[in-house]
Amino acid sequence: MKKQILIKTKSKKCKIVIENGSINTYLKSELRTDSKKFIIIDSKVSKKIDKIIKNKKNVFLVTVKGSEKLKSISSYWKIISKLLQKKIDRSSTLISIGGGTVGDLCGFISNTILRGVKFSLIPTTLLSQVDSSIGGKNGINSKYGKNLIGTFYQPDIVIIDPTILRSLPLKQLRTGYAEIVKYALINDKNFFIWLKKNLKDILLLKKNQLNYAILKSIKIKEKYVINDEKEKLVNSSSRAMLNFGHTFGHALELINKYHSNLTHGEAISIGMILAAKISYRMKNIRRSELDDIIYHFKQAGLPYSTKSVINNKLYKAISADKKNTNNKINLILLKKVGEAYYKRGLNITELKNLIN
Ligand SMILES: NC(=O)c1ccc[n+]([C@@H]2O[C@H](COP(=O)([O-])OP(=O)(O)OC[C@H]3O[C@@H](n4cnc5c(N)ncnc54)[C@H](O)[C@@H]3O)[C@@H](O)[C@H]2O)c1
Ligand SMILES: [Zn+2]
Repeated sequence: MKKQILIKTKSKKCKIVIENGSINTYLKSELRTDSKKFIIIDSKVSKKIDKIIKNKKNVFLVTVKGSEKLKSISSYWKIISKLLQKKIDRSSTLISIGGGTVGDLCGFISNTILRGVKFSLIPTTLLSQVDSSIGGKNGINSKYGKNLIGTFYQPDIVIIDPTILRSLPLKQLRTGYAEIVKYALINDKNFFIWLKKNLKDILLLKKNQLNYAILKSIKIKEKYVINDEKEKLVNSSSRAMLNFGHTFGHALELINKYHSNLTHGEAISIGMILAAKISYRMKNIRRSELDDIIYHFKQAGLPYSTKSVINNKLYKAISADKKNTNNKINLILLKKVGEAYYKRGLNITELKNLIN
């Protein structure tokens, strides 16, 4: 069944469609109109849409390889140059088809080229369907860190077609699942209970369970985005709550030089377990709840052991986190399962004491 969500922020109304087969339906109708369409597509999914775009006038295709390396100033420049060469204009639409890396780059391009063109986002990984395609954040990386260059720019439409995930490797499915569990842990205890029952079916891509998990995740993210589009708040409604597990996760990704052997979802899984452990040591959650969380990650095939990652490199990387202020570390912790809060102003010694 088709589900639609309209996310209304101060800057734009963004329509999100969740439906099996929606990529075909959307492209067929969109490509009928006269304006120019620029499709930036991940090579892993390009075969699936070749037929639809074949012989279409005014459609320009750029095929890319989705990876963290793609989010660079050099790919930005390469693609921008191609679009300008093909005379992209203000009535053109940029269509991104790929995972979070393609989407993050395309969002930045669509906002900056000609000071903004129409932007359609078609996420093709579970992570991008439940997370990166929602909320309008985009960006590229630099040698100083991840996502340090970027803007907020809401897409006009997001097309989520869960059937595109059939070709996604299990490791990538799990990585997206990590963000789904994150939503449950920070905001919805009943969703966590539901996930424990339905984990297997979600990873097997069973339609009802998968589509519900995606819808529910988007609904939770939507609440934070509407309340705090530009991540200005510092309370429990802040968009920063979505960074649960990410302070540690980003640090691990940085240490690992963003190598694909540790995916984003895997890194934040270790991060979430660390944050849950600290939440337990601060007497916010019970030992049994911590064990329950660890057990669920284990069942999902996500990393859950934190021993091997705790070292000076980790603390150094954490000290460079974007959320830190005045050299103090700000962490998102659990008040309880289903509720997160901002723990501000920890110094590194306090953090070490909590972890060790
Ligand atoms: N903007 C945001 O709010 C936000 C939020 C979370 C994450 N992100 C960003 O998202 C990025 C990670 O996204 P990702 O996990 O989708 O990574 P990705 O784009 O690198 O995709 C992962 C892999 O899956 C392949 N792939 C894509 N779709 C496929 C399909 N249907 N079948 C088979 N293979 C497919 C890609 O080629 C790639 O090898 C990170 O850069 C992260 O910073 C952004
Ligand atoms: Zn994330």
